Amino acid sequence: MSAVAAQTRPTDVPSARVLDVEGLDVRIGRHHLLHDVTFSIDRGERVGLIGESGSGKSLTSLALLGLLPDDAAVGGSIRLAGVGRDLVGARERDLAAVRGREVAMVFQEPMTALNPTMRVGDQVAEAITVHAGRGGPDRRAARARAVELLDQVGLPDPADAAKAYPHQLSGGQRQRVVLAIALANDPALLVCDEPTTALDVTVQARVLDLIVRGVESRDAAMLFITHDLSVVATVCERVLVMYGGRVVEAGPVDDVFRRPRHRYTQGLLAASDLAAASPGGRLPTIRGTVPAAGAFPDGCVFRSRCDHATQECATTPAWTGPDPGKGFACHHPAHEERAS
Ligand SMILES: Nc1ncnc2c1ncn2[C@@H]1O[C@H](COP(=O)(O)OP(=O)(O)OP(=O)(O)O)[C@@H](O)[C@H]1O
Ligand code: SF4
Ligand SMILES: [Mg+2]
Repeated sequence: MSAVAAQTRPTDVPSARVLDVEGLDVRIGRHHLLHDVTFSIDRGERVGLIGESGSGKSLTSLALLGLLPDDAAVGGSIRLAGVGRDLVGARERDLAAVRGREVAMVFQEPMTALNPTMRVGDQVAEAITVHAGRGGPDRRAARARAVELLDQVGLPDPADAAKAYPHQLSGGQRQRVVLAIALANDPALLVCDEPTTALDVTVQARVLDLIVRGVESRDAAMLFITHDLSVVATVCERVLVMYGGRVVEAGPVDDVFRRPRHRYTQGLLAASDLAAASPGGRLPTIRGTVPAAGAFPDGCVFRSRCDHATQECATTPAWTGPDPGKGFACHHPAHEERAS
């Protein structure tokens, strides 16, 4: 990715901070896909990222790992604790050194993250040796550590599993291998993009539990992208709500879920509230669909679907809140608490 603006900000991150994203702005081709995305994550903190399909969640996560397409024009800054440079505009060589070590990722589909022609134990071992400096573990020690990691993520008979190729494992087992790779270097931040969606429902809870235990035991922070708001309520302390490539609301999960202020958040929560659906009735939905990239209205991007929109909403609402970690951007916020 290329930087659109020279970065002059200092790259020191306060000690409790793992990640500081400021004004992240992404354009691909003629589409402006992320707008001024600003948030931070503290050490050991678990932050959920929610929003309908196409809201910009995956682009945000890819930006954190320097995995945006080459033709993406990226502005703003992404600063990780312990990394002495801004990741926006960093060279691929520097990004590769950070990826898998300070920040690691678990994607939705484990097959895309694994090499189909390599035994899984070797893949975990390679994740260890690739970042090992002089004096780090040799191949043999890395293989032994790989088996330990496969054991930690709950693979039965880890020594045998290490010799398997990805296609010989189930989807849930493959995602455990991906998790073992992601945790191999004790990253300070784990980014999970719908990590359990592709799995059988009975396996989802187990893998989720392993992810949470994996980050907790390392005191690692986590950014967790999901459509499943009950998972956010269970796993995360804070939540960011995205729509149209913008963070429209942010705050502690309890506050946002109990008292959403942005009309989009309110709609999203109502649409996922199974308890509110009347028997035989229909689940509330947000009317319309997410516009295609480039087709969002000016002003508030949600106004083409919002029942509370007024003339005022043709102007962009300002962020209302003490800081980027808590607040919302809506001209006519909701006030009432949701029934819990
Ligand atoms: N490489 C790309 N080139 C052009 N547009 C892209 C590219 N990647 C994503 N987009 C567009 O950017 C917008 C945000 O995409 P993104 O993948 O971040 O959505 P998402 O919130 O992760 O959705 P989902 O929940 O479906 O995964 C979408 O409109 C998508 O079409
Ligand atoms: S700013 Fe206006 S259009 Fe946007 S969510 Fe709030 S009320 Fe709806
Ligand atoms: Mg996505």
